[in-house]
Amino acid sequence: MSLDGNMQDNGHHDDSGHQELAKELRQQREKMKQGGGLKRIEAQHAKGKLTARERIERLLDEGSFQEIDGYMTHRHHDFGMDENRFSGDSVVTGFGKINGRTICLFAQDFTVLGGSFSEVQGQKVAKAMDLALQAGVPFVGLNDSVGARIQEGVYSLAAYAELFWRNTQASGVIPQISVMLGPCAGGSVYSPALTDFVIMTQGTSHMFITGPQVIKTVTQEEVDLETLGGADTHSTVSGVAHFAAADEEAALALTRQLLSYLPSNNAEPPPSVKPTDDPWRMDSELNSIVPTDPGLAYDMRRVIHHIFDHGSFLEVHQGYAQNAIVGFARLHGQAVGIVAQQPEVMAGVIDINASDKISRFIRICDAFNIPIVTFIDSPGFMPGLMQEHGGIIRHGAKIVYAYSEATVPKLAVVTRKAYGGAYIVMSSKYIRTDLVFAWPTAEIAVMGAEGAVNILYRKHLKDVADPEAEHAKITAEFREKFSRPYTPAASGHIDDILLPSETRPRLIGALELLRDKQVSLPAKKHGIMPV
Ligand code: HXC
Repeated sequence: MSLDGNMQDNGHHDDSGHQELAKELRQQREKMKQGGGLKRIEAQHAKGKLTARERIERLLDEGSFQEIDGYMTHRHHDFGMDENRFSGDSVVTGFGKINGRTICLFAQDFTVLGGSFSEVQGQKVAKAMDLALQAGVPFVGLNDSVGARIQEGVYSLAAYAELFWRNTQASGVIPQISVMLGPCAGGSVYSPALTDFVIMTQGTSHMFITGPQVIKTVTQEEVDLETLGGADTHSTVSGVAHFAAADEEAALALTRQLLSYLPSNNAEPPPSVKPTDDPWRMDSELNSIVPTDPGLAYDMRRVIHHIFDHGSFLEVHQGYAQNAIVGFARLHGQAVGIVAQQPEVMAGVIDINASDKISRFIRICDAFNIPIVTFIDSPGFMPGLMQEHGGIIRHGAKIVYAYSEATVPKLAVVTRKAYGGAYIVMSSKYIRTDLVFAWPTAEIAVMGAEGAVNILYRKHLKDVADPEAEHAKITAEFREKFSRPYTPAASGHIDDILLPSETRPRLIGALELLRDKQVSLPAKKHGIMPV
């Protein structure tokens, strides 16, 4: 039953005066819910978009929404503003429940002055955010706005600044999710960019700093809106969006699913679900996924699907930097974050974009007490002028930094190649990974055997009678010593060698051990993360 249901006339009012008051309130509420009016609601639907209230209804548990500030209106009079005084102004704010847990939210109302960000919209959003932060509950923004309200000038800009400041204060304390359901132009993109996750709808949402017209004037480039800042662009090319959803229903369902892995705030453990998958399940298919030939690729997602609770994997940033995989899953009902390389894409090499994707995800997991399980199969960092000039040094450093500062339980599984930097930054015990496991196919070395022999024996191979045979012989020796997990296991650089099928129960056991892990860090205001 909706909370509004309590307003229905139940015939027990004690006098007509009270009945009149209740009737007036009902009428006011109806008016408030009309936003910019029927014509504009129809126009919104014609664009394939839902209204702010329809979106809220679909996002939240049925009947749980409590609106606040629904009667606030703007206070400006210039440029025809007096005729546009709608109850609630251009945003709906309040709180409600998702899967029984409370969140605060705003939904921009495009039917009122294009959902433009006004002084009052800013105040309403700020109040909802303050409530979320004080109460320690997630904050969700449903964005559909033409940007700063031109008629309000600096009042609108100041309100944006207040929002950005709050996004930053709340960062790492409560989860913040931005759902993009319409335009988001100019500096207004920086609020979503400051939040933890950006979900965009394909075809109807667009994010850009400068629009096609301005670009044409400044750079003479012709670009359409979709290519410039559509969901596909931002979820594959720029990495601004973490998810591209087919439509609004899918975007809102995804928001609910995403929140199911996150705690309400950074002082809580992530929510667990009743386990439905056997913790002792040992999937023998795992034993043959990784080819013994290091030159052959395989799909790391298959490894993930066989180890974690059935159907629990939610991939984040799926279309961006596909040589890396990050996402949430569950192990025996407990939420975990997964970081992995994808040998199927560029052999799982670590490049600039993968560095950004991995390091950001690690920090989200660490902020919200979500243990991290890492799967390593990487030949190391990507070589090349473009990468060096693009700053692979400082971008790659983010991964080291993020893993090193993370205090949540950290587990690693070396499935195959952990060469050089890939071993150090992704898995090594020395950046304080709690337990490092290796599969029998693991190769932990400074570099691959072939390359190593080419460097070390270059002169020697020139002098011998049969360089090819000699190269093969030394490579085999090298591989036996450095490309098998027994050498690092003999010196404790890895903690155990597992049959792949044993990985699930071993990870579950390790997470149980580490559940109450305590780490103390040196006192500081904050570190200087390489950016
Ligand atoms: C107030 C605005 C407005 C604005 C549009 N409207 N932009 N009202 N302030 N900035 C009004 C329109 O007059 C219209 O009113 C209604 O909103 C819907 O706009 P339409 O143009 O009809 O919608 P649509 O065809 O869907 O096109 C959407 C759009 C276009 C592509 C976003 O409106 C547009 O290009 N607007 C300007 C976007 C922009 O440059 N914003 C400023 C960005 S800079 P009626 O009454 O007819 O329904 C910025 C600075 C932030 O935001 C800085 C933060 C640091």
